[in-house]
Amino acid sequence: MTRHFLRADDLAADELATVLDRAARHKTDRGRQAATLAGKAVAVVFEKPSLRTRMSFELAIVELGGHAMKIDDVEIGLGRREAISDVAKVMSRYVDAIVLRTFAQARLEELAAAATVPVVNALSDHEHPCQALADLQTVRENHDKLAGRTLAWIGDGNNVAHSLLLAGALSGMHVRVAHPEGHAPEQAVVDRASQHAAAMGGSITIGTDPAAAATDADVVSTDVWTSMGQEGESDARRQAFATFQVTDELMALADSEAIFLHCLPAHRGEEVAGTVIDGPASRVFDQAENRLHAQKAILEHLLVPEVLGEPGAAA
Ligand code: CP
Ligand code: NVA
Repeated sequence: MTRHFLRADDLAADELATVLDRAARHKTDRGRQAATLAGKAVAVVFEKPSLRTRMSFELAIVELGGHAMKIDDVEIGLGRREAISDVAKVMSRYVDAIVLRTFAQARLEELAAAATVPVVNALSDHEHPCQALADLQTVRENHDKLAGRTLAWIGDGNNVAHSLLLAGALSGMHVRVAHPEGHAPEQAVVDRASQHAAAMGGSITIGTDPAAAATDADVVSTDVWTSMGQEGESDARRQAFATFQVTDELMALADSEAIFLHCLPAHRGEEVAGTVIDGPASRVFDQAENRLHAQKAILEHLLVPEVLGEPGAAA
């Protein structure tokens, strides 16, 4: 069966750990890596704007000796010019994997159902699993082990939050979310994350108090108040989220070694104070760099799993 990476928990816990080990190795070995994707082509398709995802995927594929084909949906007309299932079947005849950034998770599921090559979620309305890989890689660089660490998510229960809930839980972390009323993460995701956390010795806590979430946390993370596609709600969201900015005062409640994460792009003075994102706890540019390393690892996991070794075996 073709394996896809549409949701963060499409990886089992041991596979996630192996992918993160491999990502760390890619970071150390950059420039000296084997051409593990030689002879392979990957389509990278965007329905929404991107800086990091576009650059890091293209570079990941090229640096591993593969061929990256970047295509904007405006050319394809996914589901408009042509049925999504037909696009999936055509692309499967040309390339070895399809990476898609799309407005709806359902479009990814439809593409994956008809594709005979792996499909990777490069952000949907529902998840951003590649971001979660890079985020956890960044946490590991600062706090060594993930299990037992506490991550506080402040703000919208959005796509990035969903993937971090799932990947954090699979890694045995304690994930706390503080969201404004009406902006909680989806209950089905919280339920799945809670099951993973129970199995891995972590926990999931969902609430509406940023201070409670941030207290003694090892990681404080946030994201924009208005995601791509929600621009019509931005005024209402600015009001609803006004007390959810990550400030120096909030960071002061966290552990003294706590780091600040943000997937970027960021809006200083909205979800995060400039003094926090540009301050000593911020690791946002490591996070952005780690997209490159983590995506190399996930592509290898899907296309040449033998290079990663057995899941759970340390790289
Ligand atoms: N974090 C992230 O996915 O950035 P882009 O939207 O620029 O790709
Ligand atoms: N939640 C944001 C993430 C951007 C990388 C969005 O979907 O726009």
